[in-house]
Amino acid sequence: MTPPSVLMFVLLMHQSFSLSGPQCRSCEQTTCDCSGQNLDRVPAAPSRIITEINLSSNTLKRISKDDFDSYVSLQSLNLSNNNITEIHEQAFDMLTLLENLDLSFNRLENLSAEWFKHLSSLRHLNLLENRYTTLGQGNLFLPLRKLRSLYFGGLESVNKNDFSGLSQLEDVIFDGSKLKYYDRGSLRLTRPITHVTLNLLFPLPGFRSPVRDVLSDVVHPNTTLTFLDTWFFFSNQMIPFNVLSQGGTRNIVFKKVTLSTAACLAFINQMANSNLTKVTFEDVKLFLFFERIDEIPHIDQLEEVVFKNIDLPEFYSFPALIFLQPLLAVVSRVTVINCKMFLIPCQSMGHFSHLENIDMSDNYLTDSAFTEMMCDGEADLPRLQTLNVSRNHLLTFNGQIFAKLDKLENIDMSANKIHSLPETCDWPPTLRFMNLSSLRLTKVTSCLPRSLRILDLSNNMLTVFSIELPFLTDLYISGNKLTSLPDGGFFPRLVFLSIQDNNHQTLSESILNKYEKLETLEGSTNSYICSCDFVAFMKSEVAKHRVTIRDDFRLYVCDSPDAERGKSVRDVTLSVFECHTILAFSLLFLGILAVILAFAGLCRKFSILWYLKMTWTWLKAKRKPKLKKGELNFDAFVSYSEMDSGWVDAHLVPQLEQVQPPLRLCLHKRDFLPGGWILDNIMDAIESSHRTLFVLSQHFVNSEWCKYELDYTHFRLFDHNDDTIVLILLEPIDKDTIPKKFCKLRKVMNSRTYLEWPDDENQIPRFWQNLRAAIMKNESVSKI
Ligand SMILES: *[C@@H]1O[C@H](CO)[C@@H](O)[C@H](O)[C@H]1NC(C)=O
Ligand SMILES: *[C@@H]1O[C@H](CO)[C@@H](O)[C@H](O)[C@H]1NC(C)=O
Ligand SMILES: *[C@@H]1O[C@H](CO)[C@@H](O)[C@H](O)[C@H]1NC(C)=O
Ligand SMILES: *[C@@H]1O[C@H](CO)[C@@H](O)[C@H](O)[C@H]1NC(C)=O
Ligand SMILES: *[C@@H]1O[C@H](CO)[C@@H](O)[C@H](O)[C@H]1NC(C)=O
Ligand SMILES: *[C@@H]1O[C@H](CO)[C@@H](O)[C@H](O)[C@H]1NC(C)=O
Ligand SMILES: *[C@@H]1O[C@H](CO)[C@@H](O)[C@H](O)[C@H]1NC(C)=O
Ligand SMILES: *[C@@H]1O[C@H](CO)[C@@H](O)[C@H](O)[C@H]1NC(C)=O
Repeated sequence: MTPPSVLMFVLLMHQSFSLSGPQCRSCEQTTCDCSGQNLDRVPAAPSRIITEINLSSNTLKRISKDDFDSYVSLQSLNLSNNNITEIHEQAFDMLTLLENLDLSFNRLENLSAEWFKHLSSLRHLNLLENRYTTLGQGNLFLPLRKLRSLYFGGLESVNKNDFSGLSQLEDVIFDGSKLKYYDRGSLRLTRPITHVTLNLLFPLPGFRSPVRDVLSDVVHPNTTLTFLDTWFFFSNQMIPFNVLSQGGTRNIVFKKVTLSTAACLAFINQMANSNLTKVTFEDVKLFLFFERIDEIPHIDQLEEVVFKNIDLPEFYSFPALIFLQPLLAVVSRVTVINCKMFLIPCQSMGHFSHLENIDMSDNYLTDSAFTEMMCDGEADLPRLQTLNVSRNHLLTFNGQIFAKLDKLENIDMSANKIHSLPETCDWPPTLRFMNLSSLRLTKVTSCLPRSLRILDLSNNMLTVFSIELPFLTDLYISGNKLTSLPDGGFFPRLVFLSIQDNNHQTLSESILNKYEKLETLEGSTNSYICSCDFVAFMKSEVAKHRVTIRDDFRLYVCDSPDAERGKSVRDVTLSVFECHTILAFSLLFLGILAVILAFAGLCRKFSILWYLKMTWTWLKAKRKPKLKKGELNFDAFVSYSEMDSGWVDAHLVPQLEQVQPPLRLCLHKRDFLPGGWILDNIMDAIESSHRTLFVLSQHFVNSEWCKYELDYTHFRLFDHNDDTIVLILLEPIDKDTIPKKFCKLRKVMNSRTYLEWPDDENQIPRFWQNLRAAIMKNESVSKI
């Protein structure tokens, strides 16, 4: 190897070494998803424009000083679920644009203020589930002026300066399950935090606990407090909630907690006379445990109670909802989602006198339970506006139980198993919204209230939809089997129509114009026939239509014609032929006709067919070996005008055929094959004759057939340049009357002597003698 190539090799080696570090397998443009790739080191940045890298679920242990040096554009970094124990103090120095940092689920023992020194753009920081027990030496988050959400946990102590500098916080998750020491005021920031999620142990009284101090720091009327992953068993565990009552808390969430009935009642007691307006129980396990049942107070401000995914292991021994009656008597909104609720007795419904909105989605309500709940149409719910029983087990539609709900505006019965509507129903005149989607309806009836403004009938099995709804503004009818759009005349006020995923085949300006007020349409995923009109309509300027097509144009796909099936309408280009078939075919037909006529005209004018034929025959003749005199049938073919036949019959034929030695003449009258094409006959005759005898006269020049004969011979003349022609001039003719095209003939006439029929009787014998001689002249003169 020469020295330069050694150098090259070394350089290449060096290059491949630096590339041989871990690589992230899935990078796209500015994003790398390297999660779960068993990486034990941070991969090199594939480019400097990477803004997001997901390194979660790998086996990283250490983050070194220069690991992120090339990630200068990084905005989002996920290092969660690794085994990180150590991060170099300057590891994040280059990440000045970083907004999102997830360090959760690692093994960090110490947090260092040095890491965050340059992260002035950081908005979200997740430090949950590590091994640190304090937030460093204080002022840890001081540079993070823009921090909006901070998740941290596992702390044993919180000190005064731990959160200094944080003023923009909106979302805090604080896992304080191990918290032993808390400096009062640490979390009291200048502005209330919108969402605070706390995982705190609420101990029995008598035990020292920082819970009260934490609560009194974060409490604020504008702060939603979520209690996560904890348990409340005894009533006196709830005493710290009086901090919230006094602090004016309005919104409390219990999430993933285990709650006893005793704790629940104690909570209500603590919050009596508070400003609590909404309480949510989500993913809660509720079990029966009563210590003592006092008079249960009202929470006067309470407006909304949400139960979501409640587990009641001992539901069979629950005294209905009676123990919650005081709570429920004042509320206007109750949500009970996915709580295995199968019945609310009519009697209990009687307590909900303030109820405006009840959502019982995703429970076990059956037809009879629903009828019972609505007290068979007699329920006293004077304020009820919204009734939601979606995703239950209703099989039939009871059209009589709503009539007395004077304020009812919205009904959601979607995702049940109802398969038909009664012919008639009684509705309060206030009804505006109805969701009947995801049922099994095959047809609609006039049960539908005429007062409706919004109707959702998507995902049923409707084949037609023709009910007049004069006030309807929004119609959702996707996922049915409609073969055409409903008649616009039925919906004079319709503004929005969603008719995706049906079987209708076309859209056009005129169809849409029947909807007088329609503004927005969603109509993708149908069996569109991509006709020219439809394609043109879909491609035309959207602004030109009154109706805006809102859904994705790529999903307007052709079902036919076959050539375009599966293509998006926007990608289809139909040819002029497909689009103006009749016009195009008419034009084409006319064009062809014109060409044919022109051709026919030309053929007629210039006898083109004849010339073609002539050429063909001539070519054929040329290829055949030249016949010897003896092999020819005739000595002479006589070409003459019919007008001169008298002379031919009277003089020529007797003189040549009957005088010894007789010559064999070919006369068209006598020797042409009957039935054959006259031109064929002429050419055959000329070909099979030794000489061609032209009887020239003024008649001859005027005769059509003679011209052809002359033509053909003339043609041969060019080729053979022989003297097969014998000219007899029956009467003097002006050479100029011979058409110009017979130039050769004229030349022949000029150069060669021709035989003139003499006026003088005495000359006649000599004429015949000359003629005979001309015909019988040695045939070998013809040269090729
Ligand atoms: C990172 O990957 C995990 C696992 O694939 C995923 O759950 C997470 O949403 C991703 N995070 C980001 C920011 O892409
Ligand atoms: C980071 O990845 C984990 C999965 O390991 C995921 O749960 C988490 O949501 C991701 N963090 C961010 C901020 O997306
Ligand atoms: C983290 O390290 C521990 C031991 O240090 C090991 O047992 C564990 O499997 C590692 N976890 C991962 C996800 O690599
Ligand atoms: C964390 O800090 C403590 C005391 O400051 C020290 O003893 C320990 O070694 C540190 N741990 C790591 C992993 O740096
Ligand atoms: C609390 O929220 C109300 C509106 O909900 C707002 O007017 C008020 O300024 C907020 N108070 C604070 C301290 O943010
Ligand atoms: C409860 O709300 C009322 C009216 O909004 C207010 O005057 C009162 O101070 C609040 N109570 C607490 C404890 O904040
Ligand atoms: C009914 O409940 C379902 C599920 O919670 C929800 O998606 C829907 O919006 C609710 N309908 C109304 C009208 O509030
Ligand atoms: C009707 O209910 C379904 C779910 O059951 C929901 O997805 C849909 O958005 C609702 N329709 C309207 C118009 O709110």
